[in-house]
Amino acid sequence: SNKSLLILPGDGIGPEAMGEVRRIVGWMEDNRAVSFDIDEDLVGGSSIDKHGIPITDEVVDKAQNVDAVLLGAVGGPKWDNLDFSIKPERGLLRLRKDLELFANLRPAVCFDALVDASSLKPELVSGLDIMIVRELTGGVYFGEPRGIEDLGNGIRRGVNTQVYTTPEIHRVARVAFELAKKRNNRVCSSEKANVMESGVLWREEVTKIGESEFPEVELSHMYADAAAMELVRKPKQFDVIVTDNLFGDILSDCAAMLTGSLGMLPSASLGDVDETGRRKALYEPVHGSAPDIAGQNIANPIATILSYAMALRYSFDMGEEADLVEGAVQKVLESGIRTGDIMATGMTQVSTTEMGDAIIRE
Ligand code: NAI
Ligand code: MG
Repeated sequence: SNKSLLILPGDGIGPEAMGEVRRIVGWMEDNRAVSFDIDEDLVGGSSIDKHGIPITDEVVDKAQNVDAVLLGAVGGPKWDNLDFSIKPERGLLRLRKDLELFANLRPAVCFDALVDASSLKPELVSGLDIMIVRELTGGVYFGEPRGIEDLGNGIRRGVNTQVYTTPEIHRVARVAFELAKKRNNRVCSSEKANVMESGVLWREEVTKIGESEFPEVELSHMYADAAAMELVRKPKQFDVIVTDNLFGDILSDCAAMLTGSLGMLPSASLGDVDETGRRKALYEPVHGSAPDIAGQNIANPIATILSYAMALRYSFDMGEEADLVEGAVQKVLESGIRTGDIMATGMTQVSTTEMGDAIIRE
């Protein structure tokens, strides 16, 4: 059966970057004896313009029934004044929620050619390749009770609650351990077990899953504040980091800046495996729709291209093709070709489509 891919280019630079992915997919179909069932549809502002809502039931239904969804970016000033319930971002939030995408994978890979773009010393990040697995559907962002209460006498109280159940911890831990098996067999689990009950439970349950199901994977634990320090002090000590929603939000953004530009960062969000053995999955660049540079053919398409490579690796079991894409990106960077966001002296500045050309050539 064909591999099914739903492409949702979205808004701003989303469609521009996705255009380059479409060309790489075309190259693969012509040269690698693979074929995809590709469907393309609307999300975000482009869906609001056509349907009045940021995503339709029909598109959500399609997303539920494909091997992978590849999304560009949503949002832009045109839709900034809409009511929150119909804002472009809601399209993405609904996809994540309806597909129950509980594991957010954020690789932090340092391309040596871009080592100068890092906020750290070259020797600290050269060769860096870590994967942060952030729990995405639970924790303090969703826990009840929550709200702002009036306590009288002009005093108000804001409340959020960190809640994790054992099944929520187990499923994200399994994703992390499985990833580690395909990498360097090391997982570092991060929480604040010293001050949080949910952290105590997290540590106990991750340990259980590790011992009973993944004895070959080395598991360590690190308090989240210490992990933030260690990420900056000596990032190459990590392989896979698994952590909750809040700490993962912060640690993954911290790790992102070890490697340079927003225009380079892919991500994956994974859900459960269904009866047919298919894992729900959404791939997207970390960056947004970049309205400040949209429509000018200058955006960096690499984050979206690398998101496609992640889809090849994790949803389609096409590791060789993923290596081809990632290797081509690396060679292009080594040859000195750069979009504006990663431009440096002595390099050659190119457009979005020229970057696509160069990657396809490699
Ligand atoms: P942004 O990521 O769109 O842009 C931040 C800065 O980085 C801008 O100066 C932009 O030009 C630059 N940049 C981002 N990606 C780039 C690329 N591929 N190549 C070259 N430069 C790039 O974040 P911002 O400006 O905060 O948000 C803009 C819009 O995007 C908003 O409507 C926001 O809600 C939305 N957004 C959507 C996200 C998504 O779809 N997942 C994530 C973040 C923001
Ligand atoms: Mg964040």
